Amino acid sequence: MSKLFISCALPYANGPCHLGHLRSTYIPADIYARYNRMNGVDTVMVCSTDEHGTPIAVRAEQENKSPKDITDVYHELIGNDLKACNISLDSFRRTTDELHYEMAQDFFKDLYNKGYIYEKIIDQLYCDTCKRSLPDRYVEGICPHCESEARGDQCEVCGRHLNPTDLKEPHCLICDGTPHVQQSKQYYFKLHEFEEPLTQWINNNENLPKNVKNFAKEWLNDGLKDWIMTRDMNWGIPVPLEGVTDKVLYVWAEAFIGYQSSAATWAKKHGLNWKEYWDDKTVHFIGKDIIYHHTIFWPSMLLGHEWNLPYSVVGGGYLSLEGRKMSTSKGWVIWVKEFLDQFDSDLLRYYMVINAPLNRDTDFSWDDFQRRINNELTDNLGNFIHRTFTFTNKFFEGKLPEPGSYDEIDKEFENKIKELPDKVADCIENFKFRDGLVEIMALTKEANKYFNDKKPWKAMKEDSESAKTCIYLSNQLVYKLAILLTPYIPESAQKIRDILGMPVEDIEGFMKFENREPKVTWTESKEFLEAGHEIKKAKPLFNKIEDKIIEEQKNKLYSLENTENNNEDENMSDLISIDEFGKVQLVVGQIKEAERIDGSKNLLKLQVDLGDEIRQVVAGLAKRYNPEELIDRKVIVVANLEPAKLFGVESNGMLLATDSMELLTTEGNVGEHIK
Ligand code: 2FM
Ligand code: ZN
Repeated sequence: MSKLFISCALPYANGPCHLGHLRSTYIPADIYARYNRMNGVDTVMVCSTDEHGTPIAVRAEQENKSPKDITDVYHELIGNDLKACNISLDSFRRTTDELHYEMAQDFFKDLYNKGYIYEKIIDQLYCDTCKRSLPDRYVEGICPHCESEARGDQCEVCGRHLNPTDLKEPHCLICDGTPHVQQSKQYYFKLHEFEEPLTQWINNNENLPKNVKNFAKEWLNDGLKDWIMTRDMNWGIPVPLEGVTDKVLYVWAEAFIGYQSSAATWAKKHGLNWKEYWDDKTVHFIGKDIIYHHTIFWPSMLLGHEWNLPYSVVGGGYLSLEGRKMSTSKGWVIWVKEFLDQFDSDLLRYYMVINAPLNRDTDFSWDDFQRRINNELTDNLGNFIHRTFTFTNKFFEGKLPEPGSYDEIDKEFENKIKELPDKVADCIENFKFRDGLVEIMALTKEANKYFNDKKPWKAMKEDSESAKTCIYLSNQLVYKLAILLTPYIPESAQKIRDILGMPVEDIEGFMKFENREPKVTWTESKEFLEAGHEIKKAKPLFNKIEDKIIEEQKNKLYSLENTENNNEDENMSDLISIDEFGKVQLVVGQIKEAERIDGSKNLLKLQVDLGDEIRQVVAGLAKRYNPEELIDRKVIVVANLEPAKLFGVESNGMLLATDSMELLTTEGNVGEHIK
């Protein structure tokens, strides 16, 4: 039996999943995994949370927590998001696992012993106040290329990769002090040595999707520079060399091993060998922002280590939201959890696949989502299935009739039904997930037309032979859909299978070891149901989404943006004068009443005592606080903000809170002004 290793990019454990993650990486990976399992391929699909790196370390310091406190929370939240979308991971681990540390250190030592890692003295920034060096995001300053505010590793405005020492006017993110340049010994990987074999691999690999190949070729054309593998900090995996202290592996020097350590943990538990999966066929599913890492850096590390290179790397494009770039800090985002509070996961899976080919960037728009669900999933697919089932029950007592005579239209329809499984298979095997779904949807559209043209309700009276053929063939298509839709929309496919009396599986959440072998195979989709097959009574599979629901979602998105938006754009580039700051009236207030706002998961309506008046303020705090917790807290209120309506509720002011919605509280007296 052939084996398959599927990896999903490791999400950083410092935020939950949003729709972009699902679209670029996890839904495509899951389609591929489910398809392969149905084809008898012994598949392991793995992921882990990526728990090291400076963003997590910096945030922990700023919030006065340990990094592990943060990653504990997000490991769980991310896991819940992925489970809720039925991403059938066999293993979901953490890069803070002991086995991961061990495997990552062994990998590094092996490269070191083989001479692919060398020492180099480089200039680094050092903060005298904090008494430590400032890698990556520990420092901010001015981008030397575009003069915008930038982080030590990258300028978000011009997109350029930076070293902390490139920054003009650098300042320490922890104490705000000015660091100085100091020399430090680091370890580098000889990436340039792999130019030749990498070029061969990329040029000759027919399985790499075009977008991935093109990206990789461009970088190769530019020539490869050696990669730094270490950082001077405490949060991370210690560099496993004698006498080296206070250095950890750079997060990108160990994250990839997370694929293998996740698989190894799973394999160990079940008495299997993960390496057999790796060696047979490995496919990495990632977002396009990390194609470089997976086509240049990682394969070079693998070559150095003398392990097999992946079969393919599939890089999904970016997702924008209502025509604008997503931004978690500005609240311009849809979190998976919020989405699933309102809609079934299959709707998300359907829309994210049908919306655009995976290799292209695309947009999530509420109107387009509604249109596709209503017109395509409900009116086209759902309607065809429902009318077929209903008709079979009404006129044939729930039993598939023997077909009658075939005319040319029937024959053509039958041929198309027969061709469908191979067509869809071909698309999925080539990572063209949308094309496969388009094939399915195109045929159900034709099937509706066929049904309309054949008018079985009329034919039942005039030419029952023709009606029997129509219902026979329509059910055959539905039977195939029950199988072919499984990788795409597993819950709905399961419902169809249930009505057809086919085996029902435990499909929800992560993959349970005992369920790895599916009860329904792809080959079965090439068969036809026998006449006489029983078909249960059915309810409609999908419901239309009402305008009201979409309006609510849009309101929520736009109001979230208003409450969470901290005008980053302005703050990033413009300084304000003391006079401008003086215009902001900050007053100590005390929360007297707090209640949720109907229909909003994020907003609370508060009555705040400002000393000489009670103010109503709407605040986006509901995800962080229960209303009761807030009573009597003394908070800082921006008292002279223009009134606004959020979710139809008037708000007169704003409370100060951090990005993560921690309220700023104070010991001051109610009504006191803050200077
Ligand atoms: O870019 C990211 O979100 C990284 N956490 C992805 C790591 S994928 C792999 F290297 F493990
Ligand atoms: Zn400092």
